[in-house]
Amino acid sequence: MAVIAVDTPGGQYDVRIGAGLLAEVATLCAPLLRKREAVIVTDSNVARAWRAPVEVSFAAAGIATHWYELPAGEGSKNWAQLGALLEWLLAREVERGDTILALGGGMVGDITGLAASLLKRGCRFIQLPTTLLAQVDSSVGGKTAVNMGAGKNLVGAFHQPALVLADLTALDTLPSRELRSGYAEVVKYGILGDAAFFAWCEDHAANVLAGDAAAREHAVATSVAAKARIVGEDERETSGARALLNLGHTFGHALEAETGFSDRLLHGEGVALGMVLAARFSALRGLMGKADAERIAVHIASVGLPAEISSLGLTCDGQALAAHMLHDKKMDAGTLPFVLLRGIGEAFLDRSVSLAEVAAFLGGQLAR
Ligand code: GLY
Repeated sequence: MAVIAVDTPGGQYDVRIGAGLLAEVATLCAPLLRKREAVIVTDSNVARAWRAPVEVSFAAAGIATHWYELPAGEGSKNWAQLGALLEWLLAREVERGDTILALGGGMVGDITGLAASLLKRGCRFIQLPTTLLAQVDSSVGGKTAVNMGAGKNLVGAFHQPALVLADLTALDTLPSRELRSGYAEVVKYGILGDAAFFAWCEDHAANVLAGDAAAREHAVATSVAAKARIVGEDERETSGARALLNLGHTFGHALEAETGFSDRLLHGEGVALGMVLAARFSALRGLMGKADAERIAVHIASVGLPAEISSLGLTCDGQALAAHMLHDKKMDAGTLPFVLLRGIGEAFLDRSVSLAEVAAFLGGQLAR
């Protein structure tokens, strides 16, 4: 098992990564539970696979469990579900000193974390991420949110978990498209700040996706260690360090918006293609070599993630795609900061990019 310490002004905690952690969940969480009971939020899909083993672990430790099941899917990450969850937690008489457990992917972690930040002005929560994307990104760093009519993740809070248990066994039952989508966030850490890790990904992505235990542990632990370093430096995304985690997200957001935030393009797929676009745009601006930008595209395509906009079958032009960026929550006083690359492993934040320039570039990509 790998243990990564996260140290932020908002909280210090461990991220434990290994196979079989959910079978030991009661023992690992017990030090954080004040009562002989555990309040667990999950969703209907995750419950089917993981409720029974988690219940067995708590029962063996003499700890009763109380379950709240959200309907599976990103559609549940909304204000109404947040309100209903809070009412349930209050009816259960969860106290400020209690700890709520979030068992599931990003949707469960984000809404439960936000509920924990609000309940009685804030109580502790534990992240038990069951998807690759949640294990390497959303469960670490304390971003919590729900989606609003005006856009994704627009209402939220920074609220650090008290513990994260990433059970690699949970990845065994993930649909392969979801696994690949989560892998985009793994290779992101190499592209943005660690050329050696990117090279490792080129050599080992197939092993990670095929279920090789050592490769999975290395991929998740290296990703979490990178994220821990970044959020330790810039918990609230004020100095610019944390903004680098948005590599590929601005281009990806435009593509997700154009495809209606639907399963035509999963979030990680949008990020994967977005990273290719950020690299090609950086090359066009003379910041990085074209060969390195194409090396990224080749790797993304080699794992079955989209590397060409043309694969999406869009009918819009570059201007319409760029227009989606105006609604990006990263807009700052009329400018949109872009994460660009000076090379593989050398991301930086560029505030000088104009939307007209991006629109022209996207027009060229659509025509490729
Ligand atoms: N997913 C980006 C961040 O946690 O800052």
